[in-house]
Amino acid sequence: MSSISARKLKHIQVCLEYPVQYATKTTGLENVAWTYNALPELRLEDIDLTTTFLGKRLNAPLLIGAMTGGAQLGATINRNLALAADALGVGLMLGSQRVMLENTDARASFTVRQYAPDALLIGNIGVAQFKKGYDASHARRAVELIGADAIAFHTNPLQEALQIGGDTDFAQVIGTLERIVPAVGYPVILKEVGHGLSGGVARAVKDVGFAALDVAGAGGTSWAKVEDYSHNGTLLHPDLCEIGIPTAQALEQCWAASSLPLIASGGIRTGLEVAKALSLGASVCAIALPLLEPATRSPEAVIAVLERVIWELRVALFVAGHANLQSVQLQREVA
Ligand SMILES: Cc1cc2nc3c(=O)[nH]c(=O)nc-3n(C[C@H](O)[C@H](O)[C@H](O)COP(=O)(O)O)c2cc1C
Repeated sequence: MSSISARKLKHIQVCLEYPVQYATKTTGLENVAWTYNALPELRLEDIDLTTTFLGKRLNAPLLIGAMTGGAQLGATINRNLALAADALGVGLMLGSQRVMLENTDARASFTVRQYAPDALLIGNIGVAQFKKGYDASHARRAVELIGADAIAFHTNPLQEALQIGGDTDFAQVIGTLERIVPAVGYPVILKEVGHGLSGGVARAVKDVGFAALDVAGAGGTSWAKVEDYSHNGTLLHPDLCEIGIPTAQALEQCWAASSLPLIASGGIRTGLEVAKALSLGASVCAIALPLLEPATRSPEAVIAVLERVIWELRVALFVAGHANLQSVQLQREVA
């Protein structure tokens, strides 16, 4: 097994066995008001949860968050996630494809298009790789090798800083992205990994050419914790692990700073939280950690978690008198 595959497997084990979520910080969505209408003039079953994101139709405004690939367990997880995405008509973000670009044996674990022929499928590469020799052709190959519709570039300076031998050169990274992103030829999403994109970051990448931003805010999985536990078996840097912009705040900041479509993620756990994130301007939401353990078991186990979230979202809209997602979402001014 390559060293990257071994690290991916360790990450999965740590996420399954250790308390890797923020301990002192929440998403802030609990403070976002949700209205109640005792006479909604709607039928629960008529609420329309469909939407279109990056040109693909979704049955609900949900993406399975970027997680894994590489080791054999990664192949099982990705297969089960893809089958669940196909069954429910939601999108699927895959984990970092660096391992498959550098080791052809790892490729099979990312080959999931056959399980979800119509799903919105999003590849993944770390921004830091573009400071180490990757160029637009690597991103294009990552998309084309798996038949993806788009690719997410994850930016993760805190995680890299806590990873032994992590890639910590983020100098001139925005200029690098300005060169790479327009040359990829597919929609590129900028995402964090759970510590949040600020309004300042959204403003800084305004002219880069991204198709969407995934705020991946604080309140759910802390990747600093995953790294700390991976290397030390305990938290040596608990305060660093709590750094991050809560998801609700990251969403509000990015909404104010950018006109790009927004993905809300980081600690999204319930349908009501999805509804609240939409009300703050998100186009769709992504959920990662709660789907990891179910994905080690079966597609049905993943489907059960997502069906609960989708049902909760339907109820949240019903009792607030919203017939569809557009009625919830902040409507941007059309210029
Ligand atoms: C096991 C696991 C592996 C992950 N691997 C990646 C990755 O390869 N690339 C990436 O961009 N994000 C990765 N993430 C981060 C998630 O996509 C997400 O941004 C973060 O976990 C916050 O969402 P959550 O609170 O719903 O877990 C991973 C998350 C988990 C739980």
